[in-house]
Amino acid sequence: MKHLLTDEQYAQYLSDGILVIQPESLDEAFHDHLYRSAQQIYALVENSRSNTAHLDIIGDSLRARIPEIDRLFADPSVSGALSSVLGDSYVIHPHNFVHKSSDADQVFHQDGNLPWNERGHYRAHRPDWALLFYYPQEVTDENGPTELILGTQYWTNDFEKPDGTWHSFDGIDRAFTREELANEDLSFRDRRLNESVASLGIPNLQRKFVTVPKGSVVLCHYDILHRGSRTFLEAADRFMYKFHFMRTQEPTRAAWRHQPEFDATEYMRKLLPEVQPIVRNIWNWSSNTESTALVSKSLAEVKQSLFSSNEAKRVEAAYLLGEMQSDAAVDVLLEGLTHAEESVRRSSCYGLKISGSAQANKILPFMGNQRVSIRRLAVYALGESANGLNVQVVRALLAALTKDQDDLVRSNAAYAMGQILRCKDADFSAVIDALIQRLAPGVEPNNTAVALFPRSTVRQSIAYSLLQAACNHEFSAAQIEKLLALTLEDDDRYVQGFAIEITRQNQNLSAKSLDVLLAALSRLRLSPRPAALNSAS
Ligand SMILES: [Fe+2]
Repeated sequence: MKHLLTDEQYAQYLSDGILVIQPESLDEAFHDHLYRSAQQIYALVENSRSNTAHLDIIGDSLRARIPEIDRLFADPSVSGALSSVLGDSYVIHPHNFVHKSSDADQVFHQDGNLPWNERGHYRAHRPDWALLFYYPQEVTDENGPTELILGTQYWTNDFEKPDGTWHSFDGIDRAFTREELANEDLSFRDRRLNESVASLGIPNLQRKFVTVPKGSVVLCHYDILHRGSRTFLEAADRFMYKFHFMRTQEPTRAAWRHQPEFDATEYMRKLLPEVQPIVRNIWNWSSNTESTALVSKSLAEVKQSLFSSNEAKRVEAAYLLGEMQSDAAVDVLLEGLTHAEESVRRSSCYGLKISGSAQANKILPFMGNQRVSIRRLAVYALGESANGLNVQVVRALLAALTKDQDDLVRSNAAYAMGQILRCKDADFSAVIDALIQRLAPGVEPNNTAVALFPRSTVRQSIAYSLLQAACNHEFSAAQIEKLLALTLEDDDRYVQGFAIEITRQNQNLSAKSLDVLLAALSRLRLSPRPAALNSAS
């Protein structure tokens, strides 16, 4: 039986962005086995001397190499926490990795939302994603603990470049260099790290080294600022397994162990004022409760904050305006959407996203804007499940997905369509057909080779969208056949992985689909190191 989170734990997850969990069903022998497995993987890497070992040996094959690892996900406390945060129908993402700490320091950063720090869509404030870190050994101050800045998951950096391209990595401070992080003077490194945190402009932020007992799991909001910290000389290897999980359905009720007498308003009052409206809005969305505006300031004051230079103030203002759902508030947000500063445009987009389906048509004209930066945000803002009933929105997103020249517009349009496909009350079979067709060879060509392998951020977003569709609507046997025919040969391993998960959601597979799947299994199966060898070594 799953052990769901309490109200306090869920509220803490939304405010701090992190929860530490002790898996109760796993013993010392399990953790030792996972520790030895990580050592063996890194020994293979060292022996291979391959510059693609991160792909061939470490990345994305952990569940095949160490099949026992699925016991971690089945643990009652781990699965209960995942269900509480993401809803019962969460799905594991095909990307995974095991990190080994080193004497280097990392800069505080947010992971790219596609594997290997690629960018597919604007950051989701709601718990649509979660990072699961597992530590098979104790983590101490000496062996390179992960360091987090609590509550930073709702803020981010500008990433657009003047030529229309973009930074894919979101470091806290883009001026921070690799050389500074490798500086032998450790006090210099620490000073630079302190400066980078101060640059956020938010007093009293809490930094936290994640020192945890052996076998702990840390569940994090995907976008929390974090970094790997340096090890000290004599420390034994410290490993951290990393997995991504995704929500696939819109919440219809609280997925955690909610007690009606819990006073969420009282809890929110203890949080930083800047995050209160965000946490309140997400809490209400998670429990499928109507959010009402709690604004003590005038519209002019809130507008001034939206247009200010402080990220926390801007995002707070955007949520206050979005919750008002009034014409006047939406007009301010639309003015923000075309502002000269990327940060103001981006914050305004989050406000528009929660402004209610009645206001959605006002965003539509911005999808045809000449400025690519505005089109990217307009499509993202429309990605609300309730907009699934708005034929104009669905049609416009499909047009952006198929016709816009900008990869990030198409990728965001696919992602937004994924949120829309959570709407169970409309027939999306034509949309599903169109999405599958976009995965045909050559339609969306590979557009990145970061980390030394070619793949497509847009096809990955389309595959995500189809997964959302599959978890909320039944595909026809012909749709699955076509999906498998197009994707099992895809050279993007994540598109392939999604295709399997999409198929897994479907109830009626044709004999042809089963044959294609079994042929792929026969061809692709990786033979992990036998358990008997593991225990003998
Ligand atoms: Fe990271």
